[in-house]
Amino acid sequence: MGVSLTDVKGIGPATVEKLEKAGIKSVEQLATLRKEELSKILGVNLKQAGDIIQSAKQLALDQLLEVYTAEDIKRYRQENIKRIPTGCSALDSVLKGGIPTMSITVLFGEYASGKTQLCKQLVVNCLKQLGRKAAWIETEPGTFIPERLEEMASAIGYQLDLNDIIVVPARLIGTPYNLFLAYEMIEHKMQKLGLDVGLLVVDSFSAPFRKHYTGREQLPDRSAEISRHMGKLDILASKYNMAIVLTGQVGDIPDAGSQLHAVVKTGHRKNPVGGNVFLHSGTYLISLIKTKTDEWEACVFDAPDIPMTKVQFRITREGIRDVSRTRAR
Ligand code: GTP
Ligand code: MG
Repeated sequence: MGVSLTDVKGIGPATVEKLEKAGIKSVEQLATLRKEELSKILGVNLKQAGDIIQSAKQLALDQLLEVYTAEDIKRYRQENIKRIPTGCSALDSVLKGGIPTMSITVLFGEYASGKTQLCKQLVVNCLKQLGRKAAWIETEPGTFIPERLEEMASAIGYQLDLNDIIVVPARLIGTPYNLFLAYEMIEHKMQKLGLDVGLLVVDSFSAPFRKHYTGREQLPDRSAEISRHMGKLDILASKYNMAIVLTGQVGDIPDAGSQLHAVVKTGHRKNPVGGNVFLHSGTYLISLIKTKTDEWEACVFDAPDIPMTKVQFRITREGIRDVSRTRAR
């Protein structure tokens, strides 16, 4: 929030030390203490403790009012959220320009539904259109293919520098815990080298969870771990104004009731591996389906600002493209 304990009236460095020893590290924490507690921690009388809490509260409230008006948030979003085009203009117009930064987008679908191809196109477009770098965490060996990125880039006349893409290869990601460390490795590298990364792809996000948590009885543990990952990714998305794109496979659902639920939620009878936590975690949820030999469908089925919409796209040698434009050639 930008204020520190020393900004509170009556608090100097010695008092901060006492507070920190008691685990109180922020103005917000101080503001919610009872005066009896604070009086014990600082060895001051109740009146003095009450006065300190009162000024901490005032300071915290001023900050809240300053930061959280709807107008501020609107302006902040308009100034900061950038969109990475997908290569398919029909999908871009549904997405108001492309995949947004400051959000987590989940792409899910079956085998060969285009998840990895779309992510590669986003990397190329992030570098070219946003002029920012990209990061890729590969969790399944051999799926991140730099030559494919070069092919997509040259199709739009862009001279790709592969050094602009940070990659964590699959051999480093055996478990969800390794994956969590990979976020921290990337953040560390960004800070150390001063890199401006506009897109982080985790392909596949669901695979390490599926391999690590094999039984139904482990579902609660898996959900808890996915939530921890989402929490960290949310922070990265807003701290660095990044687009986070996660891919997930869909799995068969054993019982009819859950199948019906999946149809209502996502348009088909399969659910993302990782269950509902995965489904509810991304801000934007897009399911991908292969509909014909050379045609795919993207369904934006859950987004805070877009009604459920389906659009067709193609995967060509040049990358992700519109159906009509590729047909006309
Ligand atoms: P899984 O990772 O197996 O779950 O699949 P996915 O959804 O990631 O599929 P992916 O994006 O890898 O591939 C989708 C389709 O894109 C493939 O079935 C191919 O038809 C096409 N494709 C993949 N690689 C290339 C390529 O290098 N060039 C062209 N033209 N098409 C490709
Ligand atoms: Mg893939």
